[in-house]
Amino acid sequence: MEIFKQIAPFKAFLKGAKLAGKTVGLVPTMGALHKGHISLVEASKTQNSVTVATIFVNPTQFNNPEDLKKYPKTLDKDVALLEKVGCDAVFCPETEEMYDQPSRIKFDFGHLDKVMEGQFRPGHFSGVALVVSKLFNIVEPHHAYFGQKDWQQFAVIRTLVEELKFGLELHYVPTMREADGLAMSSRNLRLDAQQRAHATIFYKALSYAREALRSGQDVADVRKRVQSMVDQEPGMRLEYFEATDSKNLTVLDNVKNAGQVILCIAGYAGEIRLIDNLFL
Ligand code: PAJ
Repeated sequence: MEIFKQIAPFKAFLKGAKLAGKTVGLVPTMGALHKGHISLVEASKTQNSVTVATIFVNPTQFNNPEDLKKYPKTLDKDVALLEKVGCDAVFCPETEEMYDQPSRIKFDFGHLDKVMEGQFRPGHFSGVALVVSKLFNIVEPHHAYFGQKDWQQFAVIRTLVEELKFGLELHYVPTMREADGLAMSSRNLRLDAQQRAHATIFYKALSYAREALRSGQDVADVRKRVQSMVDQEPGMRLEYFEATDSKNLTVLDNVKNAGQVILCIAGYAGEIRLIDNLFL
């Protein structure tokens, strides 16, 4: 596996691959890789002759400086994992390589970046869109892979690709979970044993909500029950639970006669913020 820290040699490698007629699949990550990330690499490998992963903890998408400082970094382990799964190249630049000057560009996705994560993490999706645009321009992949786990991120990036005419095909890969249902996340590395045990409440609450809504209960009643389920769990705090239209993320009071609905949850285990979702 080739490892690049600089844009120029990475681009030269990609140019060579494309001239040889290869299709390129891109898997952007912030490292601290787990099986969820690896499932994206595997999805890319089935559809492309060359798969490249990127590892870059993007400062512009962190609205909380502490969160950025504490974001887990496990580069050697990540590289070994990617090598093992047969990834062809990894791009892991320093901050200065990606941000050689302070950024002036801000993105506004309207409703898509105002609800849910947007409400609680102002500026987050602008930073995501900025770095993903840079990566799309550097790699010019045929296909790019993202996780369902960050569904709102996927919805934002879909808009980015459509509006800015990035000529690539986007894919999302279903969420990989631990045996007890907890969605895999790099942030899980920061949970202590007790928090780890209680963190499954978010998946349990989502699973309850899915069943309750399928059997015709009201969103408002389900939200109350979700709130009390999380409240009963020591150290856990609910930030939001929403039923939304999966395409435009319109928040729904009523899921009857709606298109595809996705249930989204976010909250804290102590200081550590976790998100999850399930399609209805
Ligand atoms: P990161 O959190 O490292 O996630 C990288 C990719 O892995 C994202 O597309 C995310 O949705 C996906 N992913 C995370 N957990 C997953 C799981 N349990 N199952 C399946 N896929 C999972 O998302 C980011 O980084 C950044 O915002 C990024 C897009 C790289 C831009 O900086």
